[in-house]
Amino acid sequence: MEDSVLRERWIYRNGDFIRWEEATVHLMSHSFARGATIFEVIRFDATARGPAVFRLHDHIARFENSARLLAMRLPLDHDALCRAVAGTVARNGLESGIVKLVGYHAAPKLDVLPPEGALDLAVFALDPVADLGLSPFDFEAGVTAVVAETRKLDPRTVPIAAKAAAHYLNGMVAALEAKRRGADLAVLLDPEGFLAEGPTESLFLVSGGVLRTAPLGGVLDSITRRSLLEVARHLGIEAREERLPAERLLAAEEVFFANTPFQVIPVRRIEGRELPDAPGPVARRLREALRRIVSGREPAFASWLYPVSGA
Ligand SMILES: Cc1ncc(COP(=O)(O)O)c(C=O)c1O
Repeated sequence: MEDSVLRERWIYRNGDFIRWEEATVHLMSHSFARGATIFEVIRFDATARGPAVFRLHDHIARFENSARLLAMRLPLDHDALCRAVAGTVARNGLESGIVKLVGYHAAPKLDVLPPEGALDLAVFALDPVADLGLSPFDFEAGVTAVVAETRKLDPRTVPIAAKAAAHYLNGMVAALEAKRRGADLAVLLDPEGFLAEGPTESLFLVSGGVLRTAPLGGVLDSITRRSLLEVARHLGIEAREERLPAERLLAAEEVFFANTPFQVIPVRRIEGRELPDAPGPVARRLREALRRIVSGREPAFASWLYPVSGA
């Protein structure tokens, strides 16, 4: 991490702005020791009218749902949460980047039951390239993937629709497996062996010209997943949510992952099968449409943007 730049960042915590090195919790905090942290990763992009946050209301609604599923109480209502996010972007003077919104229990607790009382709240607004030293994503190069032995968390064990830190051990183990096998990303199958998603990505394939992805229930209700389904239909591309056997990957015309930071992530090799034409035509059309939407150049989707100005 580029510490020098991060030291310049203002971090929202429980109503105040603090510095990077102050954004800490105790090792005995319930959220650290038990993983009871909920979060959102949200993008904001430059538009002609200043930076705008992508689908902020939908992210906050998902955050509220994560809290509800885990019986956590948020300290702010919906509009105040939106303002905390936009206000953190404004305070850091960034034109584009990533927000991480975190709800956590800072209080130390030995027991598995969470502390009483509302969650603590933190908001980070970062430029992943300048602040974290990440390289810009190369859409044309795409990624390689394998189908992991590790299965997606069974929804009968934890409420997987909650975007909770503890669930990410599942993605971490699958990602480590992919790395060990020389691939960039893992595809996780659900407990019954159907295609689910990546460690931190939704998964799509195109077959017979139709865009297909796993139904909700076994995968995260990803904001990008939702957006791609809606945008595809808007563009006249048929889009279906359906259970897909793993073999469908080997016959698909296109395979791609999707998430907030990178939007569309074309797969150029999956389990030894080469997809030499990746990025394919559907991935390209969807990516171009999303780029236009986030930068405020698609009036039909203007309601997806939450302007930072005035926050
Ligand atoms: C398991 C999982 N699926 C899908 C996604 C993509 O979600 P979003 O589009 O909201 O970034 C994520 C994001 O981190 C994820 O963790």
